[in-house]
This record gives sequence, C-alpha cells and structure tokens, in this order.
Amino acid sequence: MNDVAITRSEGLLTIRLARTQKKNALTAAMYEAMLDAFETAAHDPEIGAIVLRGDDGMFTAGNDIADFIAAAQAPGEMAAMRFVEALAMVETPLVAAIDGVAVGIGATLMLHCDLVYASPDARFRMPFVDLGLVPEAGSSLLLPQRVGMARASEILLLGEAFDAAEAHRLGLVNAVVPAEKLYAHAQERAAALAQKPRGALNATRRLLRGDRGDLRAQMHLETEAFAKALQSGEAQKAFMAFMTRSKV
Ligand code: COA
Repeated sequence: MNDVAITRSEGLLTIRLARTQKKNALTAAMYEAMLDAFETAAHDPEIGAIVLRGDDGMFTAGNDIADFIAAAQAPGEMAAMRFVEALAMVETPLVAAIDGVAVGIGATLMLHCDLVYASPDARFRMPFVDLGLVPEAGSSLLLPQRVGMARASEILLLGEAFDAAEAHRLGLVNAVVPAEKLYAHAQERAAALAQKPRGALNATRRLLRGDRGDLRAQMHLETEAFAKALQSGEAQKAFMAFMTRSKV
C-alpha cells in the first residue's frame, strides 16, 4: 500500500508514512497497513524492533478528518481504535523518528514508544478538545503520568502546541537530533535494541510498562467517550471548519 511503506533490513521493520500530499493524515487503510506490520513483527523472530517515521519533513497530521466525518455517519468500530489498542500492547520494541508536525494520534503514539527521537523542527499538538473530541491512545492517563497534571492540562485541554526542545525537557523524547541525521540515528538506536538478548529485553519492557490493566480500562473509557464525541455538533462543526477552510 503506497501511503505506508513497510521495509525490513537487519532485524528492523520500518513503517514509513508516505501520504505526504495530505501531510500523512492517517486513513483506515493506513492503520490497517500498520496493524499488519505489527503482526508481521510479532510472528517473525528475526525482527527485533520497529521504526516508525514520516517523510519529507512531516510526521503525521493525525487522523484523516474526512475519515472522522465518514465514521460519524456510519458508527462502528474504527481502525484507529484497533490501531491504538495494538500499539499499547505491542511486544516488539518501538522507536519513533519525528520530523515536522505530529498532531493528534501522531503525538499520542509516542507515549507508547520505547525510544523517541525528534528533529529541531518537530512540533507536537493534541488538539482533541478543539475538534470537539476527547483524547485517545490512553493519553488521558499516560500524559499526566509522564509530564504531570498541570502540563497535561495545558496540552490536552488548551491544545497547546510544543516543540522538540520542550518535548525533550518534558521527557517525551529521548533526544533532539538534526533532521539530516534523524532517521539514521533512530535506525541505529533501534538496531542496538534489536541486538540485545531478546528475552531479557522483553521482560524488562514489560516491567517498565507495569500492569496494563489501568491503561486498558482507561482506553475503553476513551473509546466510548470518543465515539460519543464524534457524533456531537461540536465535532461536526470543527470537522467542517477544517474541510471548508480557505487557504491564503
Ligand atoms: N485530515 C485530512 N486532510 C488533511 C489533514 C487531516 N488531518 N491534515 C492535512 N490535510 C490535508 C489538507 O486538507 C490539504 O489537502 P488539500 O491540499 O487537498 O487541500 C493537505 O493535507 C495539506 O494540508 P495544509 O493544511 O494545506 O498544510 P499546512 O502545512 O498549511 O498545515 C497542518 C499542516 C498539519 C498544520 C494542518 O494541515 C492541520 O492542522 N491539519 C489538521 C490536523 C488535525 O487536526 N488532525 C486531527 C488530529 S485528531
């Protein structure tokens, strides 16, 4: 599938978002491609880590808003929600390389990665409330745990954007790496993970993540609230405002 390029080399599976003309906005088909990649990695003992990256100075503009509109009109299980559930439980180490904009799920997904590297131009935003929506991917639990309630409230309630330096200061990214070295650096760090003793690495990962019961429960609540919000007038208005905005 052209909008997501999956490649493998030297024990790594790389997922490259490649819908650049739409700022890598994520469609149901793209989530399915990423879910398939997670499955492939889970069943292939040669794969020791997954690298998640964008292209052309763009990570992802988050969920495709046209898909949100379609999902509101035909309620049912969303591929996005299956993706975040899989992301939260994936057993293969995950490394993200973020250059450019990371919006919505593009920002929340880093909460599930083992290592995150960002270019100086990376810019993060979780604009769920502005879109008439609620947070997903367990971010309403994980973000306050990681950055404290005060900062999480600014990010999730006010929808404040933050840059790579701030993400680093908050402990959301491991390092800020010049754009021209970013992808090579992420590959190298992922390769280092892939070469560790697999059993000890996986056991340590599980210990670091702890009991996932609270996370599962919170994600269930988020999914219910999200489905309800998707149908709301607030969300419809925000989606339409984006789809019909005039460009200067
Ligand atoms: N869903 C659907 N299409 C999107 C999109 C999204 N989330 N983000 C960008 N696009 C599309 C635009 O509609 C535009 O398509 P067009 O060229 O056919 O008109 C194209 O991608 C380029 O986007 P544009 O807004 O012109 O680029 P920009 O550089 O000015 O701004 C962003 C980039 C990411 C800041 C801006 O597109 C944006 O805010 N997108 C929405 C982000 C969002 O709210 N995501 C949902 C999170 S839950």
